[in-house]
Amino acid sequence: MKLGLVTSNRHKLEEYRHGLSLLGIEVEHLDADCDEIQADTLQEVVLACIRQLREAGHRNFMLDDSGLFVPSLNGFPGVYSAYVMQTIGCQGMLRLLEGLDRRARFECCIGVCSDELGDFTVTGMAPGRIVHEERGSGGFGYDPIFAPEGQELTFAEMGMTEKNERSHRGKAMALLAAELRRRMEGRA
Ligand code: IMP
Repeated sequence: MKLGLVTSNRHKLEEYRHGLSLLGIEVEHLDADCDEIQADTLQEVVLACIRQLREAGHRNFMLDDSGLFVPSLNGFPGVYSAYVMQTIGCQGMLRLLEGLDRRARFECCIGVCSDELGDFTVTGMAPGRIVHEERGSGGFGYDPIFAPEGQELTFAEMGMTEKNERSHRGKAMALLAAELRRRMEGRA
C-alpha cells in the first residue's frame, strides 16, 4: 500500500520511508500545507490538520505531530516543542533543566486520512532522559539531547535503524501498520 506524507521536514520523510518500507508501506511525499492550530494535545493538532487537508480535497495521506514532554517542567515543552526549539533550542532546554530531574519522553501522534479505511490516529511514546550536553550529528530537533531509556547514546548518535527501533515515531509507525492491517482485513 502507498500513503502520502505531509511534512516539510526531510528527516521525518526519511524516517517514515525507512521504517514503513520494512512494514510493507510505500511513502510518497505529499506537498500540502495546513495551519497548525494551538491546542492542548498532539492529537487535536493532527485531527485539525487532517480536517483542513480533507476539505482541500486531499486523501490517502498521513501526517504527524510530535513533542518532548518533561515531567519536572510539568510536561513542557509538549505541544510547544516547535516554538521552544525555534526560540531557546537544545541549549535553552539544557539550561532549563539544570538541577532538575532529567526524565523525559517523546510522543508522536500519526493521523491517517483515508476514504476506504477511515480516519484514525495512533500515538507512540519513547521514554528516556535529557543528557547533560548536546551529542551527535544525526537526526534533527531535540535528538542531540535525548537518550532513550536504557541507552547511553542520544538519538543523534544513532543510525536511522537504531533510532526507529526505539523512537516515538518508530513505535507509532508499528501501531499504524497494525491498525492499517486490521482495517484492511475488516474490509476483505
Ligand atoms: P513537529 O512534530 O514537527 O511539530 O515537531 C515539534 C518539535 O519537536 C520540532 O521542534 C521538532 O524538531 C521536534 N521533534 C519532532 N520529532 C522529533 C524527533 O524525532 N527528534 C527530535 N526532535 C523532534
